[in-house]
Order: sequence, then structure tokens, then C-alpha cells
Amino acid sequence: MSFSSLMQDLSMRDTGVPSSRHPGSDMTSASDRGSVISRQSNASRAMSYASTAATTVSISGEISSLLHGGYHHPLARQWQAERQLTKDMLIYPLFVTDNDDDEILIPSLPGQYQRGVNRLESFLEPLVHKGLKSVMLFGVPMKPGSKDALGTAADDPEGPVIKSIRLLRRRFPQLFICTDVCLCEYTSHGHCGILREDGTLNNQLSVDRISDVALSYARAGAHCVAPSDMNDGRIRAIKLKLVEEGIAHKTLLMSYSAKFSGCLYGPFRDAAGSAPSFGDRKCYQLPPSGRGLARRAITRDIAEGADIIMVKPAGQYLDVISDAKDLGRDLPVAAYQVSGEFAMIHAGAKSGVFDLKAMAFEASESILRAGATIIVSYFTPEFLDWL
Ligand code: PBG
Ligand code: ZN
Repeated sequence: MSFSSLMQDLSMRDTGVPSSRHPGSDMTSASDRGSVISRQSNASRAMSYASTAATTVSISGEISSLLHGGYHHPLARQWQAERQLTKDMLIYPLFVTDNDDDEILIPSLPGQYQRGVNRLESFLEPLVHKGLKSVMLFGVPMKPGSKDALGTAADDPEGPVIKSIRLLRRRFPQLFICTDVCLCEYTSHGHCGILREDGTLNNQLSVDRISDVALSYARAGAHCVAPSDMNDGRIRAIKLKLVEEGIAHKTLLMSYSAKFSGCLYGPFRDAAGSAPSFGDRKCYQLPPSGRGLARRAITRDIAEGADIIMVKPAGQYLDVISDAKDLGRDLPVAAYQVSGEFAMIHAGAKSGVFDLKAMAFEASESILRAGATIIVSYFTPEFLDWL
């Protein structure tokens, strides 16, 4: 008999007395039992029956079936997590344009801007003050004629990424600077490498070029280079160049190892101006159902010298995050909650499906539960207020 039907039963027999619980008392627990029994109201009699029944069950029955006590209190609920979201787990993506004074709202990416280098310091100052620990830089070449088949602008020493690295190192010495390394923002065709005649990627040329770009960012002072291009063998090539240059010991190599193709990068491509001019990225980014392929890519990148492996997108690929943690138990796993996920959460909140903050936390907690300890997130400024 359930507690509520027991109460109902008793209040029907003891007419005229309401069967409500004591004001201020919670569901009956063992520690309440003595005081409950000593009270003479029908309600308390009902409670004592309930607790007696429960006691009988727990003595003779299955104690391991009782879970509620373990998470009744908010602190006890926190203790259920293997890890809590903290500010130092967050990396904030920044879109830096080659018009130094720009500050342009990105319509499909709520609250996010393309900014010129001159706008960075005043924007970041309050965030750093609130505990921002790390950013991920993306260059956005806007000047006409700045794109070509080789993505020459990617490592222009006067380009937005290298200028930002220098500025941020100087102005925010404690800030950890990650740089996304790819060519798609800088190539005329919008693909993540150098193409063959037939429009497919030339892997060797692409790896040569991308590792050069990574090296320039690291030389300029980036703490972390994060290749997102998905060409085969780029982790090894970058690592070797860092070693040759004598900066491998102070440059973190974070691989976008399990990066899936799909429709969640749309707002980013608006923001970075990096949509491919023809075709798609399905022959280099992973197919969404390719769990085994993701495991192979992760295993390979660990063997090639990645210091951190990343899974991207995050929320739709929690099983892959869990695989990454399993395969890479000795290195940190990062997850990129991508532009489409961020936009989706905003859209859901706007249409009343859920509360924005509650969903932002739920999504992040799920990413951590799956095994990541680093999250690249557009919610970072909000979390600096919320945490
Ligand atoms: C560049 C790159 C992309 C993202 C990160 N680096 C876009 C893409 O691969 O098409 C996506 C990030 C996001 O959607 O927030 N290769
Ligand atoms: Zn790319």
C-alpha cells in the first residue's frame, strides 16, 4: 500500500480530521519516528503506520532499492557528480576580423560578435576579471581579395589571429590562448585544405600548409594550437615542426580528433565566413554514425602526439566523448559545444521549451558526465556570472 493511499484509508476511517501532513514536516523518515508516534492526531497516526510499514520493508526487504536519501539535499546531489563544472574548464571562442575596429553582431549566433583586434581588450577585460581562463581564436578575413586557393592569409603576420595572439599575451598574461588551425576561413573555395584538380583534398599539401600555419601561431605565442581541418596525419606533422622549432615543450597540441560532419556548424560558418563554395565536408569530417571511425581517429591522434583530444559537436555525440575518455584515459578530453547546439538552446529557450540557464547547465553537466573536462562554449561569459 502506498503512503498516499494509506493516508486516504485512515482519514476515511477517522472522520472529520483532515489527513494532511504536519506543517513543516517532510516525508516521514526514520529519525522522525519517535516524535511522530507520540503525537495523537490522526495524521500523525497515519505517519507512524507509514513509517512502521517502511521499517518493516527495509528490515526484511531490499535496502539497496532505496535511493532517495542519497540525493535529498542539494549538496548530496552535487556529490553524485564525478566532476562539477568550473570556470577553468571553459574555453571561449572569439571571431576576430581583419577590420580592426569592427564590432558586428552575428545574427545566427545569439549575443556573439565578430570583433576587430582593437575591440578585444575592452571586451575581454571584464570577463578576465570574472574568471575567464582561456579563449579560442578564429580569424575572419573580410577584406576583398584576401582569400586564395592556398589560404595564404591564415598565417599573415599582420592578420587578425597573429595580431590577437600578440596583443592578448601582452595585455592578459594569465589568459591561455588557443588557436583554431584551419584553412577554410582563408581559402577561396572554403574547404579545409588545398584541393586537387578534381576538387578533393590533397592531403599531403594540406598537411604541409596546416602545420606551417600551426607553427606560425605557436611562434607568435599561442599556448595551444588546435587543428580542426581533419586532414590525415596533421597531428604528427605539427608535432614534428614544433619539435624542430624547439617550442614543442611549451605548445599544447589539441586535436579536433572526432569532428563530425553535419548541420550544426551553420551559424559558425556565418560567423567565420567559411562555408564551402561547392560540395560539403563529408569526405574529411566524420559521418555522424561512425563511432568506430571516431575511435580510430582518436587512437591515431593520441599516437601522433596530441596532448588533448576533442570531440565535436558535443551534445549529440556523448557516446563518442565517453569513448574518447576510455581510449584516452591518460589525457584530457575536450568537447566543443558548437554554434548549432548553442543556437538551438537559445531558440528552445526563446520559444518557452525550457529556461536558458537551466538548459545550459544541463547540457554542460551531461558533457562532463560523458567524460570531458574541457568545454569550448559560447555560453562561457554567462557561466562566468552563473558559477
Ligand atoms: C573550422 C571550424 C569549424 C568549427 C570550428 N572550426 C567549422 C567547420 O568545420 O565547418 C565549428 C565550430 C562551431 O560550429 O561552433 N574548420
Ligand atoms: Zn576548416
